[in-house]
Amino acid sequence: MSYGEIIELEGIRFRLIDDSETILKIRRLHKRYNEGKSNEVHALRGIDLDVKKGDMMAIMGPSGCGKTTLLNMIGHLDYNSGGEIIIDYLDTNKLSDSEMTAFRRDNIGFIFQLFNLFPFLTAVENVETPLLLKDIPSGVAREQAKMLLRDLGMGDRLYHYPLELSGGQQQRVAIARALINNPAIILGDEPTGDLDSSTSAEVMKLFRRINQMNQQTFILVTHNRWIAEKCDYIIHMVDGKISHVENGPFMED
Ligand SMILES: Nc1ncnc2c1ncn2[C@@H]1O[C@H](COP(=O)(O)OP(=O)(O)OP(=O)(O)O)[C@@H](O)[C@H]1O
Ligand SMILES: [Mg+2]
Repeated sequence: MSYGEIIELEGIRFRLIDDSETILKIRRLHKRYNEGKSNEVHALRGIDLDVKKGDMMAIMGPSGCGKTTLLNMIGHLDYNSGGEIIIDYLDTNKLSDSEMTAFRRDNIGFIFQLFNLFPFLTAVENVETPLLLKDIPSGVAREQAKMLLRDLGMGDRLYHYPLELSGGQQQRVAIARALINNPAIILGDEPTGDLDSSTSAEVMKLFRRINQMNQQTFILVTHNRWIAEKCDYIIHMVDGKISHVENGPFMED
């Protein structure tokens, strides 16, 4: 299953890409951890959100307000406790686990705090893996991975293993791996968190370039106001809910 393809579910045909604007629609989304137990946490308390194709959106809010939980729900890394998530008209609650895995692999890029790089693969091997999983010829995959890593200033670290790289360099490998597949939606949890300010600025420029070139949608959680202001608008969360939305464009610095 990939972006652009037509699939059939319960007799209804869906196209995974659409010219209409909304790429992500969330309705009454709830998440409870340890549901029904004494240590239950009601982490998302009714989120409604529409994200348009090509939006670059930031999510801000105090620690524990549910930002990572929301990204995990959008990325379908964990089950929700109620509500709807519609990605390109596809009600993802209706997908089987294996359909979901394929959908996630082909349509969503993750840049998370724990980079989860494969320790026994070099930087370039880590980045080309998603392409090889899609049966792209290895020579082509290798060239694309190298190009993207060079773009991220990692040209002289292509054959290093994750443990031979600094935290910021590992992060750039993780960013490259998330972007290599051209996913429709890119989710970042503090994607520039461990980078110095000039590298963060480079990464944000790269995100914007990709965003403008391919209409890819970015959803970035950040505590950093400067990063958030590089986005089109900011969703503010408090206590499992969206408190308000701040629309850009923000001041250039
Ligand atoms: N796996 C889990 N099991 C139980 N509770 C959890 C789990 N993950 C998160 N929580 C709780 O859910 C709430 C929301 O957590 P979440 O990680 O989404 O916050 P956050 O906004 O990302 O915070 P931070 O800015 O510190 O990363 C918190 O109260 C947290 O303790
Ligand atoms: Mg978090």
